[in-house]
Amino acid sequence: MLTTPPDSRTDAEGAGACPAPDLRPLFACEQDAIRCPYPHYAPLRAAGPVWYDAEHDVYVVSRYEDIERVNTQPRLYSNRNPMGPTVLAAISGMQRVLAGLEPELAARAGVVMTRGGVLFLADPPAHTRHRQILNRALTPTAVGRLEEAIRGACRELVDAFPTDGRVDLVAAYATPAPIRALALLLDVPSARGADFARWANAINASIGANMTDAQILATIRVQMEFWEFFEQELERRGAAPGHDLLSTLVAAARDGDPPLTRDEMVGFCSQLIGAGADTTTKLISSAMLQLCSRPALLARLRARPADIPAFLEESLRYDAPVQGLFRVATADTELGGVRIPAGAHVWVLYGSGNRDESVYAAPDDLDPDRPGLRSHLAFGYGPHFCIGAPLARAVARIAFEVLLERSSVIALQDPAFVPVYEPSYVMHGMRTLPVRVERA
Ligand code: HEM
Repeated sequence: MLTTPPDSRTDAEGAGACPAPDLRPLFACEQDAIRCPYPHYAPLRAAGPVWYDAEHDVYVVSRYEDIERVNTQPRLYSNRNPMGPTVLAAISGMQRVLAGLEPELAARAGVVMTRGGVLFLADPPAHTRHRQILNRALTPTAVGRLEEAIRGACRELVDAFPTDGRVDLVAAYATPAPIRALALLLDVPSARGADFARWANAINASIGANMTDAQILATIRVQMEFWEFFEQELERRGAAPGHDLLSTLVAAARDGDPPLTRDEMVGFCSQLIGAGADTTTKLISSAMLQLCSRPALLARLRARPADIPAFLEESLRYDAPVQGLFRVATADTELGGVRIPAGAHVWVLYGSGNRDESVYAAPDDLDPDRPGLRSHLAFGYGPHFCIGAPLARAVARIAFEVLLERSSVIALQDPAFVPVYEPSYVMHGMRTLPVRVERA
């Protein structure tokens, strides 16, 4: 029998020993809640397969198996608004700003801001075609070719740490390392690194932020600059192909059925940079924070760098950089006996699935020796599974290998340090990580 989902405000007694779910602190981005959202997820899993949050009009799916169920039905659960209700506010802000521009410019800016409507923002059959094309360009072999260059970039960054060893690891390492790797992947001169950082910030600016019209306009301008740069780069690769991702993309795009348009190709670039930089930054900084409070684990990784990949997989499960994304139901449906109406926002909470006690023993422990390390949901699940996962894994592994090899001590500057997290319930990452690094 189908039921209507419980409401977070009216079912306070319904969940037995576990407190009733309360998502208000998360949606309000209260620091304590976004720093450690996990105590807010456990009551959701206990309450049932789907929790309806009436205040935000969102259906929350928090158990591992149900997340798999939603994510493997992309026609029923669409990706057309994967960032959820708060981004709708940002989109309406953008539409307001676009309405004040010259019509031609507004039309162009509209394409730029919707990232060509590809990949992350597309459903089958278009999405299947996008993945087939990008899979040919973003292969493990293509990532493998970059290994030594990424290692060189990480060494340069560590060598540039201040001589007193006091360093904000987020700004000096976890942010530039993934950006340098993306510049290498796209074969863009490393001198454009600062532009990459600016572009990535602008692409992600609308996620969980309240922007003024002036800020929105500035973001649109930066993204149009990015768009123009990549249009020219793609043209150059068409005329003189190399071995980089863009050249492979241009060749693969011609064979697409139908061939990819230029806007779709630049949309790919926009998503690679938008999805690839900040997420990897968050993995490196979170994993480093975990290590700083576990000296025995740090010593083990120094002695056996081959254990770094296992540690990183467990860090991804333990503290996922992307806590959850949204789907939109395309028809009336049900999940686990709960009705979900057409048009509803469904929040697939990867960070909660990763702590599901029916899948992971002692889920709140960080244990790099647990079985099934790669089963976590930090890269999503199903057809939208992170296409950049091989690059993310390689960059984070190399970043740790280099930092451990070039240092004898890494410790928090202040042992009582409490990180401040960016105000988002989707992205999960700290603003700074002040550490002391002594050279080996
Ligand atoms: C630790 C780092 C990373 C994390 C945690 C992460 C997480 C994710 C997640 C959760 C998704 C699934 C989206 C969904 O469910 O709708 C995703 C998709 C995606 N990721 Fe990543 N990502 C990371 C690194 C990267 C990198 C390095 C790149 C680019 C080189 C990248 C590019 C993408 C793209 C383009 C998609 C969309 C795929 C599609 O919709 O088919 N990601 N990522």
